[in-house]
Amino acid sequence: MKTFREILADIDWAMPDSQYCSNTLICLPRYKRFHELIMHNKRESSTTYVDRNFCRRDKIKRKLTRVKAMLKKMSLHFKITPDTCVLDLGSGLGMESLILHFLTGVTVCAVDRETQIEFKKRSCHINDWYDDLVFVLKEAGICDCCLDKDSLNSRVRSIAADASQLPVMDNSFDLVFSIYSLEHFTKLEQTVGEIRRVLRPGGVFYFKTSNYNSLVGPHTPGIIDIPWAHLVISKKEICKIKKEIDPTITDDDLEMFMEINENTLDQWKAVFPKDLWHFVKWDMIRDPDLSEKDIPDWVLKHKPDEVSIDDILVEDIEAILINNK
Ligand SMILES: C[S@@+](CC[C@H](N)C(=O)[O-])C[C@H]1O[C@@H](n2cnc3c(N)ncnc32)[C@H](O)[C@@H]1O
Repeated sequence: MKTFREILADIDWAMPDSQYCSNTLICLPRYKRFHELIMHNKRESSTTYVDRNFCRRDKIKRKLTRVKAMLKKMSLHFKITPDTCVLDLGSGLGMESLILHFLTGVTVCAVDRETQIEFKKRSCHINDWYDDLVFVLKEAGICDCCLDKDSLNSRVRSIAADASQLPVMDNSFDLVFSIYSLEHFTKLEQTVGEIRRVLRPGGVFYFKTSNYNSLVGPHTPGIIDIPWAHLVISKKEICKIKKEIDPTITDDDLEMFMEINENTLDQWKAVFPKDLWHFVKWDMIRDPDLSEKDIPDWVLKHKPDEVSIDDILVEDIEAILINNK
């Protein structure tokens, strides 16, 4: 792999753009969407109350859309009733779990390696989001949400555990779902083995995950504003640059970035052997505004051989798989 400086020497058409990003190394004006993401990220980290509330509700609305889309996609193959046993893997605060509860009446087991106490320490406990969640759900006409905060625990049971070692009995769940978490799991094969173990025969696994080699795959907007730079710069070097640009960045954030898996699309598929899983759906989702002609020459020249054009353009994988146990 080339060094970052060597790569930069190749990018003769790139130009600085201070209008959008003050901490930018190099910005390419035609990547409008990328800029929008950067601006969005900045807003999210804003500290004023109004902005924070606006961002929270915005974020919850996106989660609501995701959960609704998941239900719609699954509805052809699987019907959720209040009795369905559901596991949310890599649940974060458990927002999706709660939304799913409000939409279907189901009780969800939410697993994340971070405990709710750890979330609380970082002031991002589910209780802090509750009022905004109620606001969004009411606005969407989903429920009157008379629940008090204390009853949250009975709707979503949080378990702190590593996804590769679930403290759960075999065949416990009808549905396991995982939204934008699979890419963070370091022991992916082991985790998928666990999902198969805890799913009943014929149980459904739904996941949506982002694809590392795509434009937004490495979760670095606002830090390294060179589209697809991660295809030619090693993760270690990206960490070094991140630290140089933003000395306040924490080791935890860097570690989280280092953990994001770099699977190609073929490698993702290989994680789910066809004899163990029945593929109901395997969608590779592209940004409709991006096409092959947007990929700069230096990316094509320096990218690893195993990374295909599809790998570069597909942002998300969304799948519905049935456990062939
Ligand atoms: C990007 S967040 C997604 C959270 C949530 N699904 C959402 O969409 O808001 C990824 C989550 O995966 C969790 N995670 C990462 N590695 C994990 C592991 N090995 N076991 C369990 N959870 C893990 C992280 O703590 C984090 O909360």
